[in-house]
Amino acid sequence: MQFTAKSCAAEQHSTELAIVGVRPEQPLSNDAKLLDDASNGLISAVIKSGDFKAGNGETLLLQTPSSEAKRVLLVGAGEKDDSASLKKALSAMADAALNANAPEATLFIDELLGDEYDAERAEMVAHAFIYNGYRFDDHKSEPKAPSKLEHIVLSVKASELELMDAALNEGAIIASGVNVARTLANEPGNVVTPVYLSARAQEMAEVNDKLTTKVLGMEEMEALGMGAFISVAKGSVIPGQLIVMEYRNGQADDAPYALVGKGITFDTGGISLKPGAGMDEMKFDMGGAACVFGTLEAVIDMELPINLICVVAAAENMPAGNASKPGDIVKTMSGQTVEILNTDAEGRLVLCDALTYTIENYHPRAVVDIATLTGACVIALGHHASGLYSNDDDLADDLLSSGEEMGDRAWRMPLWDEYQPQLNTNFADMANIGGKEAGSVTAACFLSRFVGDTPWAHLDIAGSAWVSGAKKGATGRPVKLLADWLRKAS
Ligand code: BES
Ligand code: MN
Ligand code: ZN
Repeated sequence: MQFTAKSCAAEQHSTELAIVGVRPEQPLSNDAKLLDDASNGLISAVIKSGDFKAGNGETLLLQTPSSEAKRVLLVGAGEKDDSASLKKALSAMADAALNANAPEATLFIDELLGDEYDAERAEMVAHAFIYNGYRFDDHKSEPKAPSKLEHIVLSVKASELELMDAALNEGAIIASGVNVARTLANEPGNVVTPVYLSARAQEMAEVNDKLTTKVLGMEEMEALGMGAFISVAKGSVIPGQLIVMEYRNGQADDAPYALVGKGITFDTGGISLKPGAGMDEMKFDMGGAACVFGTLEAVIDMELPINLICVVAAAENMPAGNASKPGDIVKTMSGQTVEILNTDAEGRLVLCDALTYTIENYHPRAVVDIATLTGACVIALGHHASGLYSNDDDLADDLLSSGEEMGDRAWRMPLWDEYQPQLNTNFADMANIGGKEAGSVTAACFLSRFVGDTPWAHLDIAGSAWVSGAKKGATGRPVKLLADWLRKAS
């Protein structure tokens, strides 16, 4: 899909589909008036008749044979002007346009975006089309035909042409990164394995000269003393992979940013086996890793002038004769020992060694890990926010505001010392679980023991990475948050 900003005269502009924003009880915008005149008053007539009330997200497709616009799609803004209403209106608009069987559409939607809208709102336009146009049906024998819509023109003020054109394109890049993450996460566990992810990382490096990929296999991890990572991966016939992608486009001596993703390509729970119902959703347990890939694609396409280390801790958590057992004690790369009281708390075990490796080798200026870490986070926050934990207030604030601005919100959770003793055990430096209270917090406390003073944040995306039910599928969250954070940091 291609996006262009243009300053168009609505009545003269020839298009397959003119999309027009309308506010309830408000006079038509200038563009809408021009289109209304060009189509013999059809728009004002359907509004007057009450057939179109311009409610938030309401759409109506009209044939307008007499005008330069072959058809007009009316989109209701609703009464409110907040970002949730805008998101809803844009999403409904995108759905209707994608289904309209038109190869091209021109948008006259100041009524939706507001008179003095900023670049971020133009980005939301591109995002709506790319996000809603996404399909995951490669595994269906008869996939639905994709939408014909290829080219989208946003009509803007002449003075803002460049700004809005750039915003549309950057919005499209980030939304494509979101869809990369969705596809990786939607693919089943028998397709996306740890080895699949490392192959994918190698391929990315082959086509991008600013990217190099290195993969550590089981023996290399063993040699580095990553006993925690190994304890998870060893129960699977597919070897665990620590995937390290280095994007270098900043000054050579600039300390890099680092992203570390939980890449459990399937989480059965291991010997602490999960119940059967809904277990298929544990293919999404590499949602953090998927977002690392998606964010990296966006960073590459935006050509951000930064150095960025992307680490993916990829393993399959399986029950097996040689799998870890409750009570097993392992030594992490940091030297700290862990008693594995529950093999289903595996995410923190792969992440702790991945964090140590990243910090020791790259001394990042900030490291953010992204993980579908705890069911407890879903209980705490539901599906609307990712849980954010950090040892650094500035980093936390930057991430929170990126999430807020991009409509990909996170909510800060406490990481107080008072929670740490829940990880105590008689038999090792710490246990890998902290009891039933504050399970998301104690998981973050566990990780905090492996980052020292490095500015670090942890995003628990257990509730935000995918949706269940009839629309089951990966959301690609929090790629938007991360991509925005990195572009602002650069
Ligand atoms: N991948 C799960 C977390 C999860 C569960 C995410 C449900 C989304 C939905 C993680 O590995 C896990 O199993 N965590 C356990 C931790 C517990 C054993 C302390 C959990 O949350 O139950
Ligand atoms: Mn688990
Ligand atoms: Zn897991």
